Parts: sequence; structure tokens; C-alpha cells
Amino acid sequence: MNKIIIANWKMNPQSQQEAQELTGAIRNGIDSQHPNHPMGHCVNTNIVLCPPFVFMEKVKQILNKSKIMLGAQNIFHENSGSFTGEISAPMIKSLGCEYAILGHSERKKYFFESLDDINKKIISVLKSEMTPVVCLEDLSAVAPAGAEVDQLETVLQNIPKEKLNKIIFVYEPAWAISDGKNPSNTLPDSNDVLSAKLLIQKFLSSIIGKKKALETRIIYGGSVNAKNVKDYVGKNLMDGALIGGASLRAKEFIKIINIVEDMKC
Ligand code: PGA
Repeated sequence: MNKIIIANWKMNPQSQQEAQELTGAIRNGIDSQHPNHPMGHCVNTNIVLCPPFVFMEKVKQILNKSKIMLGAQNIFHENSGSFTGEISAPMIKSLGCEYAILGHSERKKYFFESLDDINKKIISVLKSEMTPVVCLEDLSAVAPAGAEVDQLETVLQNIPKEKLNKIIFVYEPAWAISDGKNPSNTLPDSNDVLSAKLLIQKFLSSIIGKKKALETRIIYGGSVNAKNVKDYVGKNLMDGALIGGASLRAKEFIKIINIVEDMKC
């Protein structure tokens, strides 16, 4: 299975011009690192950029004919209608979007998203044939007993079994998220993230069987940078990373991608 690196730009940058420059720098950086590959891009790593909605069209244009894909940071679960200020899954699909981050801890904290809301969003994204990137917390050893199962049962309710392995799960404890520039003071270690992955796999296994559970991508998010990515992503670790702050610095982001690409696993 290919590793996946997903850039979550959050509410950055401040202008379309800067968004264009950042996208161009990432694309050119990757092209020049892999000049001998026909596409000029990574072959072992999937890359997704999730800019703010308003920059999506421009970002997509700059990514034209590249293997870097487009994602959204959120959607509303209805397809259309009187929902002022909201954006639906079919809308982003029509812009060429293939992924949507759902249930990020900042959406829970600032916009009071519930697990039921996230569940509806997952169903909507799957219906539009895109990949939901579902953020989960409280999976560490310190979580209350059963918290992980309750969380997974609620966000995955009414989702057809055969669709479960289409979802990308992110273990992203809120306390590990950076301030955008500096990593959090408290970070999980390799064993913590691995135990979160095993919990998710165990839960999935009980519904879709071990083989399919092992084929489901489970990634880590929270202060990932070029220095620590090897602690989290790798053969016996996570299948990729969701990257916030470091994805806004093109050189750092490309460094991370190259480290993951060179893992060849
Ligand atoms: P961070 O953000 O890499 O800046 O910690 C990750 C995220 O919140 O998705």
C-alpha cells in the first residue's frame, strides 16, 4: 500500500497569490526531486493538498497533470439547499476534489461538531465517491476504557460494510497539534501511535475481517515535521501523515515527502 501525505493548510495562507506560490513551490520542489520519473513525481507516496475552499480552483489549475491530488478541510452533509455559508460534497467534487478531511479536532472545538455530524459527512463524501479522511482522538492508553469503540461506532454508523476500507483514519490527538510554527510540547511516541492503529484495526477487523482491515489506511497527525516523521510513518508504523504547520513551508514539506518516499514500503 502506498503511503499518503495530506497537507492541511487550515485557514492559511491569507491571499490567493500566496496560495498559488505555495502550490507552485511544492509542485516544483517535487518535480525537481524526481526528474527521471515520467510524471516527475513520487511513485511510492500519494500527496494531497487541502487548501481553504476559496483557493481550490487555482490550486487545482497549478496541479494540472501532476499526481498531487486535491482535498477539502470540511464539507456540510447536505448536497444543496438553504444552508447559508456551507459547501457540499458534490460542489467540491465538481472542482476535482478527491479527499475531504472530516471531524478535525478544531472543528469539534470551535464549531461544536458532534460525532453524529461527522458520521453524516462521511456518508455524504462516500456518496460523492471521494475519500473521507476521518480524524479520531482519545485512542491513546490514557483514554477512558471503551472511548475508542464508542467513537468509532458512532462515526461509522449506517455506513455500508464494503465502504469502510475506503476511509482513511487519522489518529490525531488534539494535544499533539502544533501552533502552526512550533511542535506541541507533548507528543506521542511511536508505541502510542502504533497502539492507536492497532485499536482501529481491531475494531475494523470485527466488522470487515482482518484482511480488509489491514488494507485500510491509518495515518498519524500532530506536529509532524522532517525531524520526527520517521517516528510515526514507516513499515511497522503508520501509513502516512496529516500535516498542518509544516505543510505551509514548501521546503520542509518536500523534505518530509522525500523521507517518506525513500522508505519504499
Ligand atoms: P500540525 O497540524 O501538523 O500543525 O500539528 C496537524 C493538523 O491539525 O491536522
